[in-house]
Amino acid sequence: MTEPMLPVGYRVIGRTIETHDAVTLGLEPVDRSLDRFRPGQFAMLYAYGVGEIPISISGIGDDGTLLHTVRSVGAVSRALHEAQPGAVIGVRGPFGTTWAPEDAVGNDLVVVAGGVGLAPLRPVLLAALAERSAYHRVVLIAGARTPDDFLFRAEPDVWAASGDLDVVLTVDRPAAGWDGPVGFVTEPLARLQLDPERTVAFLCGPEPMMRFSARVLLRDQVPAERIRVSLERSMKCGIALCGHCQLGPLLVCRDGPVVSHTVAGPLLAVPEL
Ligand SMILES: Cc1cc2nc3c(=O)[nH]c(=O)nc-3n(C[C@H](O)[C@H](O)[C@H](O)COP(=O)(O)OP(=O)(O)OC[C@H]3O[C@@H](n4cnc5c(N)ncnc54)[C@H](O)[C@@H]3O)c2cc1C
Ligand code: FES
Repeated sequence: MTEPMLPVGYRVIGRTIETHDAVTLGLEPVDRSLDRFRPGQFAMLYAYGVGEIPISISGIGDDGTLLHTVRSVGAVSRALHEAQPGAVIGVRGPFGTTWAPEDAVGNDLVVVAGGVGLAPLRPVLLAALAERSAYHRVVLIAGARTPDDFLFRAEPDVWAASGDLDVVLTVDRPAAGWDGPVGFVTEPLARLQLDPERTVAFLCGPEPMMRFSARVLLRDQVPAERIRVSLERSMKCGIALCGHCQLGPLLVCRDGPVVSHTVAGPLLAVPEL
């Protein structure tokens, strides 16, 4: 059995620069693989000698390779961001709840992402595209501060061109060379002609973005239990032992990060201690 507090060595085999402050690392097991990750779950990534942080899975290879997209904001994420091919990183997981995209089968799937929030949602989009006929409409609305802040920049264009996905990319403010929509994700979301009887929505991004997006969906009569959000709290153990990630009645590492809005609604405004 895997010892949940013991990091397993994974070697960096790929490093794709996504934006000025985010990279996607491809990791392959040095000796042994962890159990299979599911969309929405996270790993604790350990930059040896620096520290350990939670990072969602942004891609899942059948051969045991993992993709993680890391935005550099502090000491640990900076060390991971700078890891070059050949470097070894400690990985624990899989941890947490999943988006469970299979629950959206037969329905319209609406995915709303803000900034680096697109990373945990990418496996959902890939799963939906791989079984496209299982869903009715699949919509991606992604927002970023500037055009240069979009992750996986080439992919949404390919998805849109395939006709399998309705894609709206929007930036916070006007920018040179950008002729797409300007404004928050809530604006295109509010313009969607939703069928609330068959809509399942997944939201990931800054908490205000999720709060306001959920408000739009609820106003359009989408039931709270069919709106899922991914909560973010600082974590230490990842396995419900230390209490570091407590949010109201939840331990986010165990009860989240993905929860329905029924649970998340009253908690989304609670500041981190
Ligand atoms: C379940 C879960 C999944 C996550 N998945 C991802 C992921 O896929 N990709 C990713 O890049 N991050 C992800 N994060 C966020 C990531 O864990 C944090 O950015 C990281 O813990 C920061 O650690 P640090 O030591 O580098 O910075 P710290 O020293 O902890 O923070 C440095 C500064 O950055 C600020 N900061 C911390 N976190 C963030 C943040 N998320 N955004 C903006 N500012 C922040 C702090 O307030 C502080 O001012 C996830 C978090 C959780 C809980
Ligand atoms: S991170 Fe320790 S209880 Fe959640």
